[in-house]
Amino acid sequence: MIKSPRGTRDLLPPDTALWNFVEAAVRDVFRAYNFHEIRTPIFESTELFARGVGEETDIVSKEMFTWEDRGRAESDRGQSLTLRPENTAGIVRAYIEHKLWERGLNKFFSIGPMFRRERPQKGRYRQFYQIDAEVIGPATAGSQSPVRDAEILELLATLLDRVGITKWTLELNSVGCPADRAKFNEALRQALAPVVGKMCADCQRRAVTNPLRVFDCKVPEDQPIISTLPTITQFLDEACRTHYEEVKQILNAVQIPYQENPRLVRGLDYYQKTTFEFTHGALGAQNAILGGGRYDGLSEALGGPAAPGIGFAIGEDRLVLSLTETASAESVLRKPDVYIAPLGAGMNREAARLARELRRHDLVVDLGDESFRIKKSFEAADKMGARYILIVGENEVAADAFALKHLASGEQVTVPRAELAQRILQK
Ligand code: HAM
Repeated sequence: MIKSPRGTRDLLPPDTALWNFVEAAVRDVFRAYNFHEIRTPIFESTELFARGVGEETDIVSKEMFTWEDRGRAESDRGQSLTLRPENTAGIVRAYIEHKLWERGLNKFFSIGPMFRRERPQKGRYRQFYQIDAEVIGPATAGSQSPVRDAEILELLATLLDRVGITKWTLELNSVGCPADRAKFNEALRQALAPVVGKMCADCQRRAVTNPLRVFDCKVPEDQPIISTLPTITQFLDEACRTHYEEVKQILNAVQIPYQENPRLVRGLDYYQKTTFEFTHGALGAQNAILGGGRYDGLSEALGGPAAPGIGFAIGEDRLVLSLTETASAESVLRKPDVYIAPLGAGMNREAARLARELRRHDLVVDLGDESFRIKKSFEAADKMGARYILIVGENEVAADAFALKHLASGEQVTVPRAELAQRILQK
């Protein structure tokens, strides 16, 4: 038997109803904050992620699905392509490529699959879905302002509330600007020098190339050493400190609770200043429901104009997982309003006409088959949880009035065709 590849999964009904519920709610919230949808390709040139996310990150160095294009055209051949492991780099690429600032667009969202070759476990997959939002634009448009950071965090609190997730923790940090980070990296190098020999091979390499990435280490034996390392906070310059203070003050003003976590450096190199994660207790080891931060230098790193930005990505798989704690897929699933049962030869056509009429009234209609006996029709209607069954037999067609039975109460009435939709719409 052929199974889905490791780390991928089929999303099946009724769970897909929960996914659709989440996406519809999220789209409503984005509309209220004036975000516009953007859809970028699922694969991009490998260089985009190497330059955007950073060569030394786990994502780029270990987890990407990369291949060399075997296209016939000379221009395609040998091009290195990668299934997107995240979408910030792709959106910023599109922002630059289409000069989106010229159209006055600066708030984008996107929903879709991402790919990382990670060890699969609960809440961690190789194909997973992100709900991504990015605010990016020229500094003259205010995109560097701490107001944007706080607005993004307030949006997230609203969004989680809207989908029904209440028990979250917002962890907040500032990773400063590149100059702060250079000083911090130097301090880390010094602190690591005497102990790095006892750490894992990855950390030994990171200590030389990009010491900040030591904080991404998951090896349990390394954690006691990592917990003694200096934190970025003391290296923040005046501007970064003021920015961070202002973000926290606005959060206090709008009553969004947060916990400062000076070790939250996030696993992508493009971050500057504010970084954050929302965690949810019910998720176990993979407890980050979403993550994000500010990436003021990313556009320039990708060859674009100066364009400060901030954004986040929600792990939709994890969001749905934490939702199943409070809501069941059944509760958001719309069951058929009516099951139409054609009874006897020649009734299929009349039943199809009725189905078409009723669906025009925004009713959920499931259509049976004239080869079914009455008992089989009732079983089918029951199994799909229909509210009503509508009998279409010769007598009904002749009278142009149909037997409509409410399945839960057993109450049955005969309803003229013209009144059917209204009758079914009544709860
Ligand atoms: P990230 O922290 O790498 O950030 O991913 C964001 C979220 O995606 C995580 O918090 C998690 O919920 C989910 N996620 C990541 N990997 C997996 C996986 N293997 N299986 C299931 N869920 C996963 C980013 O991707 C940044 N682009 C976020 C961002 C946007 N920063 C600024 N703008």
